[in-house]
Amino acid sequence: MAMTGVLRPGHVQIRVFDLEESARFYRDVMGLVETGRDNQGRVYFKCWDERDHNSYIIRQAEEAGIDFFGFKVLDTATLDKLEADLNAYGIETTRMAAGEMLETGERVRFTLPTGHVMELYAEKSSVGNGLPNANPGPWNGASEQGIAPVRLDHMLLYGPNVAANKKIFEEILGFFLVERVLAEDGQFEAALWLSCSHKVHDIAFVEHPEPGKLHHCSFLMESWEKVLRAGDIMSMNEVSVDIGPTRHGITRGCTIYAWDPSGNRFETFMGGYQPYPDYETITWDWDHFPQGLDYPQRKLHESFLTIVT
Ligand SMILES: [Fe+2]
Repeated sequence: MAMTGVLRPGHVQIRVFDLEESARFYRDVMGLVETGRDNQGRVYFKCWDERDHNSYIIRQAEEAGIDFFGFKVLDTATLDKLEADLNAYGIETTRMAAGEMLETGERVRFTLPTGHVMELYAEKSSVGNGLPNANPGPWNGASEQGIAPVRLDHMLLYGPNVAANKKIFEEILGFFLVERVLAEDGQFEAALWLSCSHKVHDIAFVEHPEPGKLHHCSFLMESWEKVLRAGDIMSMNEVSVDIGPTRHGITRGCTIYAWDPSGNRFETFMGGYQPYPDYETITWDWDHFPQGLDYPQRKLHESFLTIVT
């Protein structure tokens, strides 16, 4: 948890072409738990081991991509303080009313220099993970249904001016820079992995000319075997796979990337290490970026670098 009280990525809203086809995909293939639908036509999901009501929301649209993402903060006092800090820094915020999203309190919304709409919020109803709080078993039926990741882990977003994003995340939101990739000139930070926790990243950004783009939402699996099982389920369901199974040099994550029916990339991954805020940043130079991306194959995958929604 960041010293400022930013806890974790809590929700993301994704645009899909065909709502029912996508709802089936996320429920039956990804194995997310459908927790509700609202009067705007949005479908709400959570991962089986998450306790809050929702983390992954889809809505039907003409274009795929990301509408917004939200980080949960410790409490409403933290929310008020962070909003004041953002405003003092010169960032305009708007308050989204409690209940505008199902089971979610007021959200402080603002636009990042990369064009992404970000929110902070303090309250979302806890519905539990289907296990009792006293003497729980280690898993239940929902954990075996489809790919069944344990949580929404992080997002990788593409947009211009990631340096300005970095300042906001480091100076206001209390994140620290875990890893980075330098461009060919050896100076310019082309990609950043930032953490507000003990995780190797809670969010990552890549410099890209078009604003507001989604590279992927990532879902955490419990083991390498579960990542491979996710790959089996993708193949059984003829899901389009981008890369993997493989391991990144960057973050050491073991991963598969694939696309949902609308072309939104997602990741099923496990592993990485647990950094502390006092760790020095790991740097990848341009010549070693192929290893950073795909350690065993040492390959810059064209599709991975260029396809975003
Ligand atoms: Fe990722």
